Amino acid sequence: MSGRVALVTGAGRGIGAATVHALVAEGWSVLAVDRACDDPALPYPLSSRADLDRVVSESRLCAADSGSVHGYVADVRDTEALAEAVGEAERRWGGLDAAIACAGVIAGGVPLWQMPDRQQQAVLDINLGGVISLATAAIPAMLRRPEPRSGRFLAVASAAAARGMPMLAAYCAAKAGVAGLIRALGAELGSTGVTANAVSPGSTDTPILAESARLYDLETAQSFAPQQPIGRLLHPDEIAAALVFLAGSRSSAITGSVLPVDGGLTL
Ligand SMILES: NC(=O)c1ccc[n+]([C@@H]2O[C@H](COP(=O)([O-])OP(=O)(O)OC[C@H]3O[C@@H](n4cnc5c(N)ncnc54)[C@H](O)[C@@H]3O)[C@@H](O)[C@H]2O)c1
Repeated sequence: MSGRVALVTGAGRGIGAATVHALVAEGWSVLAVDRACDDPALPYPLSSRADLDRVVSESRLCAADSGSVHGYVADVRDTEALAEAVGEAERRWGGLDAAIACAGVIAGGVPLWQMPDRQQQAVLDINLGGVISLATAAIPAMLRRPEPRSGRFLAVASAAAARGMPMLAAYCAAKAGVAGLIRALGAELGSTGVTANAVSPGSTDTPILAESARLYDLETAQSFAPQQPIGRLLHPDEIAAALVFLAGSRSSAITGSVLPVDGGLTL
């Protein structure tokens, strides 16, 4: 994957951080993007600038020869900031080959009609709006690559895209929206050589799952493990492995797909 360039959002921790590590280890150059500060609309901490800097320095330690990584602060709700991030990747490394939307948040724990407006707005604007903004900013850059192209637009949806999860209605709506967006982008991108796909994780051991446990009044996120047929939580590296495969050249026949990486949760 020498010479390939990716932009990853939500890179400060969790699945985004694991994806940055895995790409850099395979020789990609990666712009690691995160908001890197808390969101006043949400009652749990997001990652910090120090978290993002740690992801960057740890990735440098395990980088393949051609791999490089740079941290970049942007909020995925800000389409202009994402366009600037895409420009930064193109200036640094000469173009863009993959854009991977990992940034996401969760809120709920009450029926939809009792959810505070600003939490509902944050869930929809970040989990769906942020993916649309990244597609808008990044796909034109991937289309600027000369033919034959192998651009990859990737998003992280969720098992919640396929299941009705009580007390998470806005989150389910946003993730189902991501699945619909990816199918449409796959069709729109057609024969351009740029593909669009998503992975739908099951319960994965990251801070968002700890917040989900809190919303359901569970003691820890481990309580989600028995509902997953493989009987354990997933590790962020397992989701990153699927994303790195989809970002690579061997996924060329796959577009418009939403791949469950969920330990059987949606069976
Ligand atoms: N962990 C799970 O069980 C699980 C399951 C299904 C889907 N997902 C999805 O996987 C993706 C990654 O989640 P995670 O598990 O790594 O959670 P996480 O909370 O560990 O990481 C999310 C990252 O997104 C960043 N972020 C949040 N809002 C942002 C914004 N407005 N702009 C830029 N960055 C922002 C946070 O700072 C954080 O670094 C999310 O889309 C989530 O919905 C997670």
